[in-house]
Amino acid sequence: MCGIVGYIGPREAADFLVTGLRRLEYRGYDSAGVATITPEGEFAVVKTTGRIDRLAAQLAQTPVHGHIGIGHTRWATHGAPSDVNAHPHLGGDAALAVVHNGVIENFESLKQRLQAEGYSFRSATDTEVIAQLIDSCLKRQELAADMAAVDYQPLVAVVREALSQLQGTYGLAILFRRWPEVIIAARLGSPLVVGIGSDEHFVASDASPLAGFTDKIVYLADHELAVVTADNLRVIHRDQGCVHHDVHVLDFQAGDIAKGGYAHYMLKEIFEQPESIENVMRGRLDHDAATSKFGGFNLTPQQLRTANRIIMTGCGTSWHAGLVGEYQIESLARLPVEVEYASELRYRNPPLDNNTLVFAITQSGETADTLAALREMKRKGCPTLGICNVVGSTIAQETDGGFYLRAGPEVGVASTKAFTSQCTLLAMLALYFGRLRHLSFAAGMRIIEQLKALPEHVRESLACNDQVQRIAEKYAHCNNFLYLGRQFNFPTALEGALKLKEISYIHAEGYPAAEMKHGPIALVDAQTPSVFLLPHGQVYGKVISNLQEIKARGGPVIAVVCRGDDEASKLADDVIEIPAVEEFLQPVVTVIPLQLLAYHIAVARGCDVDKPRNLAKSVTVE
Ligand code: AGP
Ligand code: GLU
Repeated sequence: MCGIVGYIGPREAADFLVTGLRRLEYRGYDSAGVATITPEGEFAVVKTTGRIDRLAAQLAQTPVHGHIGIGHTRWATHGAPSDVNAHPHLGGDAALAVVHNGVIENFESLKQRLQAEGYSFRSATDTEVIAQLIDSCLKRQELAADMAAVDYQPLVAVVREALSQLQGTYGLAILFRRWPEVIIAARLGSPLVVGIGSDEHFVASDASPLAGFTDKIVYLADHELAVVTADNLRVIHRDQGCVHHDVHVLDFQAGDIAKGGYAHYMLKEIFEQPESIENVMRGRLDHDAATSKFGGFNLTPQQLRTANRIIMTGCGTSWHAGLVGEYQIESLARLPVEVEYASELRYRNPPLDNNTLVFAITQSGETADTLAALREMKRKGCPTLGICNVVGSTIAQETDGGFYLRAGPEVGVASTKAFTSQCTLLAMLALYFGRLRHLSFAAGMRIIEQLKALPEHVRESLACNDQVQRIAEKYAHCNNFLYLGRQFNFPTALEGALKLKEISYIHAEGYPAAEMKHGPIALVDAQTPSVFLLPHGQVYGKVISNLQEIKARGGPVIAVVCRGDDEASKLADDVIEIPAVEEFLQPVVTVIPLQLLAYHIAVARGCDVDKPRNLAKSVTVE
């Protein structure tokens, strides 16, 4: 997830580009860059690792002039954050410049083909392939320099030819040295808007950079391409040709925009989950073989087939995701899984054999305990695999192989979208190991269909937001909460309790629902709400009995149930409805109302949601 900006008009392009990038910094901030076409007709490019402040400082030293330009703030997916991997990327002999948001899945094969054509690559990104591919299409066409009379149709055809070869997602803005009066923008799967000013146009990943510059905005749809000059905008659809574009009027002002209009990063990240879950699955489901596929194992299927035990390790929310993975992998792949706190594993010295795989699960990739546990397991000779969100992080580099979550930057200290991406990725690993072992083709296909439906189910569960806010306000004064679930939803109960503790400073305990009667039930009173996870499944009736036990002792009950569940609704004081999904995917859906509940309770209590007291986003000390 990166931020893109573009400008064409009478201003110095770089001024808008830097302002716009600052507002898009929430989308990623490992490196940034701008390119303009100077009045002399050459590209001026400045790129640097680090944040926009650093880019701005470099631009103050080395200003780039020009009335047309593009800019980018990066959150790396392919290639570590570095000056050379930062965007914009140039194509050919500096014939064009590209900024890109998204992932090109077939970049390896395109790269090999382009290398055979004689192209050499400066960066490790998938994006540079787009730049060189457009150049290669451009070279074959030999377009005349003056194409204004034909509305850039031939140039559009060149770009479309290149885009038709890409698999994956993109929001793109492209500049051509020989046509310094046009920006071509294109969208498939990554957001892109065009702002309309007077004799000027702006391109951006979302509306936030436009506030204060223009209030007229056009949202591009998938498969649309925009031809943007200072005084004209044309939108072309892949199949329908030139299409009418609706001009919307911006409904927010320059304040409060870094969070894309949300009050807090945490809320924004909660609402990003349909997209982040889609991203973690993109290109990793293999319909032909009814399984999932991962580029990063660095182990052969034969080696993976002989694995007889998995150890998962992590801290906090990532450890909870590991517990979800344990249930998923054991039930789908019948492979024994052990989940251990990294802070314990690093000193535990467990017996290991040659066929034990170790997974380190971490959003940041920098957690000191997880890193230490990983190093200890490596020292003992186990193959180690990382499940990380931050590209190029220490753990991502030190594991023998691994998989990125592609959830985009998570800024809120309380982890939300990383958790659901971790659970989804672990479900895909369960499918992979299951298909290596006993799962049939038909069973694999069924699981693929269930995974594909997941982003939509998450979107549906987000619809409970208003209802959860009302419930949160009702119980925000309580000082103790219990979170109860069983089987797949036991880890979710732990995660719900952790979310509440972290951001609202309320004491909360997560328990397997049946374990209540062995002690914690003594805590139940009229001021201690119990949050029950009660979706349909093999233990539904059992959890209903556990709920009755709480009711019998006068404890208020908030139940998360499947839509239309009248039985549970009659028993609970408050009910939150979610869509029904297969049990192994339930944690991804049931955790959504728990994230929202913690969020709204914290807001109601006036807590600093994004930066809770005593905590840090990445815990780099033991
Ligand atoms: C989650 O909400 C917490 N902030 C915390 O428990 C976190 O999950 C833990 O510190 C592990 O972080 P990591 O995933 O970056 O390794
Ligand atoms: N894939 C591109 C890169 O790694 C863009 C990343 C993104 O948009 O998330 O540079």
